Amino acid sequence: MSSLRIGILTGGGDAPGLNSAIRALTRSLRHTCDAEVLGIADGYLGLIEQRLRPLDDDAVERIGAMGGTLLGANNRVSPLAWQGRDWREDIVRYANSIGLDGVIAIGGDGTLAIAAALHESGLPTIGLPKTIDNDIAHIPRSLGFDTAVATVTEALDRLQTTGQSHGRVMLLETMGRNAGWLALEAGLAGAADVILLPELPYDFEQLVQCCAAREAREGYTLICVAEGARAMGADVTARTRDRDAPEPVRLGGIAELLAQQLAPQLRSEVRATTLGHVQRGGMPVASDRVLAALLANAAVELIQAGAWGYVATVGPVDGGRLTLRDVAGQTRRVAPDHPLLLAARRSGVFLGAA
Ligand code: F6P
Repeated sequence: MSSLRIGILTGGGDAPGLNSAIRALTRSLRHTCDAEVLGIADGYLGLIEQRLRPLDDDAVERIGAMGGTLLGANNRVSPLAWQGRDWREDIVRYANSIGLDGVIAIGGDGTLAIAAALHESGLPTIGLPKTIDNDIAHIPRSLGFDTAVATVTEALDRLQTTGQSHGRVMLLETMGRNAGWLALEAGLAGAADVILLPELPYDFEQLVQCCAAREAREGYTLICVAEGARAMGADVTARTRDRDAPEPVRLGGIAELLAQQLAPQLRSEVRATTLGHVQRGGMPVASDRVLAALLANAAVELIQAGAWGYVATVGPVDGGRLTLRDVAGQTRRVAPDHPLLLAARRSGVFLGAA
């Protein structure tokens, strides 16, 4: 008879590396803690609807390199407010009734904020940080980010060659929500001439001048723009608004908008590409698989120490452990003096304003 019963869920949007984490957690919980592991379907919705199933070594065999999540994901359901009510008491009652000792919630800022609330309501919970946005407070590298950077970088490499062939301005829009990490790292790696971030609103006139100067000198311009970027004094560009979702504004459309605005100002043609969910799908790169193993190991160590209410991290953060509350409701954004920004600026990248 196992001494512990642990549930695992993947909350929010999916990201490459989730299956690597599910596999590593399942195997190490079973073999190191002699725990019974239950997979919770579709994020927090599975806790509300009581859809749990046992995970053993066979269930996670060979999933480590796969994209997506074996458990299913959901970024619209919060047990704090679903179908007009708060489900926390129901969930805690249900968890007690099936002898669940605790839950490992794999997710981004939204998932971890809900995890903090559930933990405080009586369901022992540990967080494991994942998001291609890389915007979880105090976490320098979240699961899935490296793979998304590689995907965007490859797209930029491809757009550069066709842009140069045709002498065009090529815009690539990345995800990332209100943080510019993905556009910034991929923009640097993919040698973008212009990188536009939510943290640095751009001056449209200066952007036109930059493209015109490159039109005269190099003949083409490669622009990497984060979905949350905006002109000075303007609002973000929203693709849809879903009032019922925990994150009501779905960003998107800035590359198309900029293409329409830039074209009349330049001699060269302008083309926009929005990568969209390509950035979330597919096999995780090796470093994300390694990160999944390290974070799973950290989560198991927290459980062994009885340290519920914390976030699994690679090494201590500020010399100590990170609580779920420390990360809840916060966004880690690119600081103006971040070395990535300095490196980009010094190598001649235009960051939206001189
Ligand atoms: O948070 C991850 C993320 O991919 C964001 O970068 C993006 O804005 C959002 O999710 C897209 O959400 P959805 O899958 O609901 O369109």
